[in-house]
Amino acid sequence: MARISAGIATSHVPLIGVAIDQNRGHEPYFKPILAAYDWTRHWISRPENKPDVVILVYNDHASAFDMNIIPTFAIGCAERFAPADEGWGPRPVPMVENHAPLAWHIAQSLILDDFDMTIINKMDVDHGLTVPLSAVFGQPDAWPTRVIPLAVNVVTYPVPSGNRCWLLGEAIARAVESFDEDLTVQIWGTGGMSHQLQGKRAGLINQAWDQRFLDDMVADPARLRAIPHIEYLRETGSEGIEMVMWLIMRGALGPNVRELHRAYHVPASNTALGHLVLEKTS
Ligand code: DHB
Ligand code: FE
Repeated sequence: MARISAGIATSHVPLIGVAIDQNRGHEPYFKPILAAYDWTRHWISRPENKPDVVILVYNDHASAFDMNIIPTFAIGCAERFAPADEGWGPRPVPMVENHAPLAWHIAQSLILDDFDMTIINKMDVDHGLTVPLSAVFGQPDAWPTRVIPLAVNVVTYPVPSGNRCWLLGEAIARAVESFDEDLTVQIWGTGGMSHQLQGKRAGLINQAWDQRFLDDMVADPARLRAIPHIEYLRETGSEGIEMVMWLIMRGALGPNVRELHRAYHVPASNTALGHLVLEKTS
């Protein structure tokens, strides 16, 4: 049986990818940013923590989807996905290799569980997906895990509620646990933390709100499920809504988790960098 072992939450700031791709991690600006992942890189390199598959919850930033098609929840079922060209050529990172049988199984299970997923068979993946892989795995020739892309619309309103994301996470856990192959699966939730990239409030960062969100991923996740869109907008800027994707991860882990690692650093480009590693304990 496949089982979800752990969850990782992380910002997916493109600048982290730049630091890694251009080997600029030693620069004073980037040092504390990459140091946020030191613990995780070591932890995941141990055989007992290595996932066979990562379900990587992220959002596309108008790279694969645009205003012509806006899937609320989409799952990648192709054999592989190439890094997207976001205007500077594709990032020099490996192809993302899927576990297609598990992806198709999850798609079927979710749809029969009343989540109307969009199935994607051709898609390039942008920084939302590739930057977290680089932050955690560095610069390997091939990613050391299979990756199932799970894309969420957090760009164009209406976007899904935190509670809907949580429930999707619970349904993903049911789907994984009903897959008849011995696999260790992690689920990653990306994006955030507070940030606004444009408009009058560009540069907004709300450290107190972010820190409480990190606390309550463990201490009071029920509070997080109920945060309305308007609070994300008001308190965390227009792009802070990416944090609903963390709730898919958190919902998939079930009620009992242990916090293994936490990092929070300001600034990382226009955002507060937030990072959590949670182990499922039952
Ligand atoms: C930045 C952060 C993001 O989450 C993103 O998708 C793009 C840019 C930033 O802070 O620069
Ligand atoms: Fe983003």
